[in-house]
Amino acid sequence: MRTIRIIMSLLLMANIITTDAQEHKRREAAADTPSRPALNDTDGNHVNAHGGCIIRVGSTWYWYGEARPQRGFTSLGVSLYTYDIPTREPLLPGMLDGPGMRYNPSFLADKKWVNRGLVLEVVDSAGSPIERGCIIERPKVIYNRRARKFIMLFHLELKGRGYEAAQVGFAVSDNAEGPFVFHHAQRPNAGIWPAGWTEADIALARKHEPSDFAEWWTAPWRKAVEEGMFVARDFEQGQMSRDMTVYQDRRGRWWHVYSSEENLTIHAAELTEDCLGYTGRYYRIAPGGQNEAPVLFNMNDKVWMVCSGCTGWEPNEARMFAADSISGKWIQYPSPMRGEGAERTFGAQGACAVCDGDNVWFVADVWFPRSLAQSRYVSTEVRRWDEAVPTIPHMW
Ligand code: GAL
Repeated sequence: MRTIRIIMSLLLMANIITTDAQEHKRREAAADTPSRPALNDTDGNHVNAHGGCIIRVGSTWYWYGEARPQRGFTSLGVSLYTYDIPTREPLLPGMLDGPGMRYNPSFLADKKWVNRGLVLEVVDSAGSPIERGCIIERPKVIYNRRARKFIMLFHLELKGRGYEAAQVGFAVSDNAEGPFVFHHAQRPNAGIWPAGWTEADIALARKHEPSDFAEWWTAPWRKAVEEGMFVARDFEQGQMSRDMTVYQDRRGRWWHVYSSEENLTIHAAELTEDCLGYTGRYYRIAPGGQNEAPVLFNMNDKVWMVCSGCTGWEPNEARMFAADSISGKWIQYPSPMRGEGAERTFGAQGACAVCDGDNVWFVADVWFPRSLAQSRYVSTEVRRWDEAVPTIPHMW
């Protein structure tokens, strides 16, 4: 009986492997050219500013993003494209006041983007955190009004260490055009427990050891994750920080929001006034929910967060969350994407929300891992829901 069962599972495995290999081949063949058209800058080259952010300073849009090579996965640095808003052009069409998103290419495509080159470059000095061979992802730029400085935060992976370092880098510039000077890199909040944790919460988190679990994704493992097993594991060296964005609350305070705890839990960590470090106040959002690529914006007195699931470069269905404030209670809603292709976020993964007054656009990357520089873009306008929206029961 046992032998039969083993043979059966071997056959089953073989079948799965063949199917996977065929599927992989099919995808490779299909992926010779990106499926969406290029977005050309004024020189006629596809815009190379992925996982980025688009901010308005005066009458200019600044688009900062990952400058990716035509082949391979390491970084060239952070690129900048600008677009000067012609006088008298309506800034963004329509009054938009609640999440619900439809594919609409016009926000990016209507503009003539001028390539302003690299505003932060990888360096050739051995041992530097941004040594050539490192990975710089999801750069976000804050204008710190008080200090009159532009501060860039980005996900940094050190040369030759894959995605294991899970750090955040900081760089500073006196103006939006750059160049940005690398300041430092770190893991957030070493030696600090999440805001509001009691002695009992700390003891519970400390009770679990990742090595106690031979297998991931079991019910006891999930419970341990929710109870902060990885927060406790990384307590001394600082919390992991991968996919990230920045968010400004209604008091004007800036937050760094990132995928932490092995990409299982989002953290929102308050930045100091100079935006170059942490106050030590941080919250966990959707523990164990496995959310990546967070994009946050304010709308209708709430803070909204749209994330992807964790399937690497492959698109998946967006998730949406809302709370009264970043430290409030988060509720999950269904994906806000609507229309053809909505179930896989139109083939894309969120990069940023572009905010201009009450108007918000969601900008995302259609990743093309065979040539990351050629990854395409998708934008959706954020609109009022046109249907009743059920909340999703918490997963945690
Ligand atoms: C994605 C992530 C990207 C990049 C990629 C690497 O999930 O959102 O920013 O890190 O994985 O595989």
